[in-house]
Amino acid sequence: MGISGCLAVPGRCFVVLGLRLLLLVPAGVPVRSGDSVLKDNITVRQGDSAVLKCSVDSKVSRVAWLNRTTILFAGKEKWSLDPRVILLENTAVTEYSIKIQNVDIHDEGPYICSILTNKKPKSTKVHLIVQVPARITNITKDVTVNEGSSISLMCLAVGRPEASVVWRHHSPRGIYTFVAEGEHLELTGITKEQSGSYECIASNDISDPDIRTVQLTVNYPPFISKARSTGTSLGQKGVLQCEATAVPRADFEWYKEDRRLFNGLNGVKIENQGKQSLLTFFNVSEEDYGNYTCVAMNIMGISNASIILYGPGAMHDVNGSAMFPCGSLGLLLTTTIFYLLKF
Ligand SMILES: *[C@@H]1O[C@H](CO)[C@@H](O)[C@H](O)[C@H]1NC(C)=O
Ligand SMILES: *[C@@H]1O[C@H](CO)[C@@H](O)[C@H](O)[C@H]1NC(C)=O
Ligand SMILES: *[C@@H]1O[C@H](CO)[C@@H](O)[C@H](O)[C@H]1NC(C)=O
Repeated sequence: MGISGCLAVPGRCFVVLGLRLLLLVPAGVPVRSGDSVLKDNITVRQGDSAVLKCSVDSKVSRVAWLNRTTILFAGKEKWSLDPRVILLENTAVTEYSIKIQNVDIHDEGPYICSILTNKKPKSTKVHLIVQVPARITNITKDVTVNEGSSISLMCLAVGRPEASVVWRHHSPRGIYTFVAEGEHLELTGITKEQSGSYECIASNDISDPDIRTVQLTVNYPPFISKARSTGTSLGQKGVLQCEATAVPRADFEWYKEDRRLFNGLNGVKIENQGKQSLLTFFNVSEEDYGNYTCVAMNIMGISNASIILYGPGAMHDVNGSAMFPCGSLGLLLTTTIFYLLKF
């Protein structure tokens, strides 16, 4: 019996070889190939135990369990060095079964129970299939990008059968949408609406999906969303309000003509509360009336709006709000210098 024969029918060959070894059959004596039966596959989860069963009867003289070409047990004698492999002794006499504890993916494959009855070898093959619940192994860390840029988010997952990966997006407005499938999510020309949390869902039906999220922060320049002009009588308290949406959050500055106003000076208070800034006059005097400029800035840019503090008799639009482009070149220059000094 040559090696070429082995290559032609490997499964059959190693059983025969195994038995030759086992029974110390002289090499010259031909061994008749016996029947081979394929039993159902055995499916176990990684980490669980697998019991491989084999039926024997009183006529059986020799038994062995093999993992591919390697003998695990020959009769009651253990050949395998793997402590996870044990012979189940207290089973019925008609059973010759082994147990593999803490099954790993490398254990997947064919296992052969080889029996010899009246010098006739017979083998039963069981295919061990190892399942692994879907699990995310690496995911992009929370990330901040500038509006208009591009990024690739990664979510690597393992699983057997192979895990499928989908991305869902929770927008800042609370909208939850499916984005894409696959371990890599490419986002190009990013808008501020694309900020929020990106959920990576890895699943393969073996267990509950594994879910992890990446927080995407999108930086964008301030946009003044509210600039409220106010009519106030002399001697009263007056408040000018300026609101800007921006990421990172805007810093505010207030100007009267070209002159910057500071908190606590000239009888004004400047209060920044989140995305809005309030300029408060405690006791409005004649010279307080006029045009003010609110400047909102962050690392992405700068934006400004004119706001009027007017007297009770002054003409104003019904909405009570006005937004003008910043008119004064001097102010722009001052602001730019402030801006440059700041960053
Ligand atoms: C057993 O598993 C093998 C390999 O995965 C596959 O080809 C075969 O179809 C399976 N047989 C049964 C009965 O499930
Ligand atoms: C079966 O054989 C494979 C390949 O040699 C090995 O990686 C695995 O550990 C073996 N498993 C058992 C239970 O013997
Ligand atoms: C995750 O992936 C990143 C990028 O490929 C790599 O630098 C990092 O080492 C990985 N982390 C782990 C735990 O594998």
